[in-house]
Amino acid sequence: MKVLIVGGGAREHAITDAFYRSVHNPKIYAISSNVNPGILRICRDTGGELIRGRILDPIFVANTAEKLGVDFVFIGPEEPLFHGVPDGLERRGIPVIGLNSKASEIEKSKAFMRGLMWKYKIPGRLRFKAFKSIEDALAYIEEYAESVAIKPARQAGGKGVKVIADIQAYLRKVKEEIKKKHIERIYSKIIARYEDIDDKILIEEKMEGPEYTVQCLTDGETVLAFPPVQDNKHAFEMEMGPETGGMGSISGKGMLPFLTTEEYEESIRIIESVVKALRREVNQDFRGVISGQMMLTMVWGPTIIEFYSRFGDPEATNVLPLLETDMVDLCESILSKKLHKVKLRFKEKATVVKAIAPRGYPNRRDLAKGHPLIVDEEKIEKLGGRIFYGSVDLVNSKMLTGGSRALEIYAEGESIEEANEIAKKCVSCVRTGDGWGLFYRSDIGSPFSLRRMIELSELVRSVYTYRKTHGILGKSIDWIPGRGKIVYES
Ligand code: GLY
Repeated sequence: MKVLIVGGGAREHAITDAFYRSVHNPKIYAISSNVNPGILRICRDTGGELIRGRILDPIFVANTAEKLGVDFVFIGPEEPLFHGVPDGLERRGIPVIGLNSKASEIEKSKAFMRGLMWKYKIPGRLRFKAFKSIEDALAYIEEYAESVAIKPARQAGGKGVKVIADIQAYLRKVKEEIKKKHIERIYSKIIARYEDIDDKILIEEKMEGPEYTVQCLTDGETVLAFPPVQDNKHAFEMEMGPETGGMGSISGKGMLPFLTTEEYEESIRIIESVVKALRREVNQDFRGVISGQMMLTMVWGPTIIEFYSRFGDPEATNVLPLLETDMVDLCESILSKKLHKVKLRFKEKATVVKAIAPRGYPNRRDLAKGHPLIVDEEKIEKLGGRIFYGSVDLVNSKMLTGGSRALEIYAEGESIEEANEIAKKCVSCVRTGDGWGLFYRSDIGSPFSLRRMIELSELVRSVYTYRKTHGILGKSIDWIPGRGKIVYES
């Protein structure tokens, strides 16, 4: 059996590792623009190969898969999906795990995703407006003085999301200026790069609450969920600094400490409804991974912030090492639309993943790039941790940083706190050869940060359950003088 994995980050290293554990002993091949030392090692060990190449090029990927004679392809990152790599493989009759370009609109276009949720009246939807022109977005902001989240309407690697609270009337003009500046920044610096989408700016109601990700496999009919994971997006301790792709993540023994089983199950029901609606809209078969990036909000309880048409990174690194179900069997069930017959099995452990990034990331990737990286893997193993390599490239047998998160440290334990202690010890085993600084977040998985999240979730839960018992879940209420109470349906 031969399997081809597309992508070269830590998520793809975790996916490759899951295939490596399969009893079917597949030969593992990978296509990636960088040479990830972890993936390379596994490929070689199984008699496969890592091919440096253009992962966004459907013809190149299909030619490579055909030449290698692989049984199926697994696509890790989102951009190959948006570029139609699964469509190209399917046209040649090569089975593929990865949502096709139409279905992956659920991640690519935030306006499509929000529109779909409204059309099918799926719970956990937020009020939003999408704009094709900067002029319309700026004009709207002058009229609409509210707390909002302003985002690029296309998935742009998590860049450009800004949440602006606007509650003090006397600050209205100041807040308006901040919102306008951010819209201009998205338009000129982020969305200008993408020509494959009409909607440019998305403005939606601001929400607050603990976030979590529910990653699921789907064969287009059945949705099978992994345990929930919480990612931490900000670069620095205690949610400070710019947004990144994710600096680290936690999963509990079975459940996250701030989430109830009912909330997790409701989150899965939302994802199931979206998959059903998506199938009706795209009118095509699709198979792959779909993940809800969720928030517990006062308005809805479980609420969709975004969808991923893939595993999250670093979230994949928390759950894939725990997966006991055979990865090859799992993929075959997806491909033959028999996912309803599968029950996922996991090792019962809490996990902590910590990303390590070179100074400069995320805003000055040019500075963060090109530094030699030295990792004492033996010591990490002795300490009980594991390494999943990310944005690094093996050049002349030397490992160089690629400008993003260089690697992820994985640790498991009986509790998140225990896993956190192991992960923190492992961090000292990673350094640069030229003295360039590296950073990570020690707070992720710490007792202090867990306590904060539990307190926040308790507050949010008390409000949304009150709203639920009063029949106003998902509704907005306003008072207009002379007209009384107006209830807007969400
Ligand atoms: N962890 C965020 C992402 O995968 O986009």
